[in-house]
Amino acid sequence: MRVKTIIVDYMMRNLEISYEHYEDTGNMNVVDQVLISEAQAATEKANAPYSNFRVGAAVRLRSGRTFHAANFESEVFPAGLCAERSLLFFIESNYADDPIESLAIASVPSERECYPCGQCRQVIVDVERRQKSPIRVIMSGAGSATVVDSAEKLLPFTFKL
Ligand code: THU
Repeated sequence: MRVKTIIVDYMMRNLEISYEHYEDTGNMNVVDQVLISEAQAATEKANAPYSNFRVGAAVRLRSGRTFHAANFESEVFPAGLCAERSLLFFIESNYADDPIESLAIASVPSERECYPCGQCRQVIVDVERRQKSPIRVIMSGAGSATVVDSAEKLLPFTFKL
């Protein structure tokens, strides 16, 4: 595992982004490996006939319970939703008293790690703020994974109302 820190100097402000990178997910702790497996399995449930890009997401809650979701596309473009947002909205609707600790993302095809889109990044940050605790984001693919300890790391200078 390599811990990497990127420091960006932007308009005299230091912006620090740190993340863990695992060349081989087999070196991760077992709990994270299991969550990645659940996200991978969830890709099979996707409905993605237009993009042919299947995404699976899985969360582990503080209680230890896990849940998953996949992306669903619609005949009426752009209706349909990413795996991550489908899952987060469901969890907040049903388990708001059990904070999300980790979110794993996987895709098929999987020749590289799958990173959340911009809208999903914003929604993960929204959920972190509402639940008042960070969500680790585990982005997996091609046998490797990158992990940030909060979605805020994926969205510097985050918008706030
Ligand atoms: N997709 C996700 O499910 N999550 C993301 O973070 C990015 C993209 C889905 C949406 C669409 O069904 C397909 O991947 C291609 O964009």
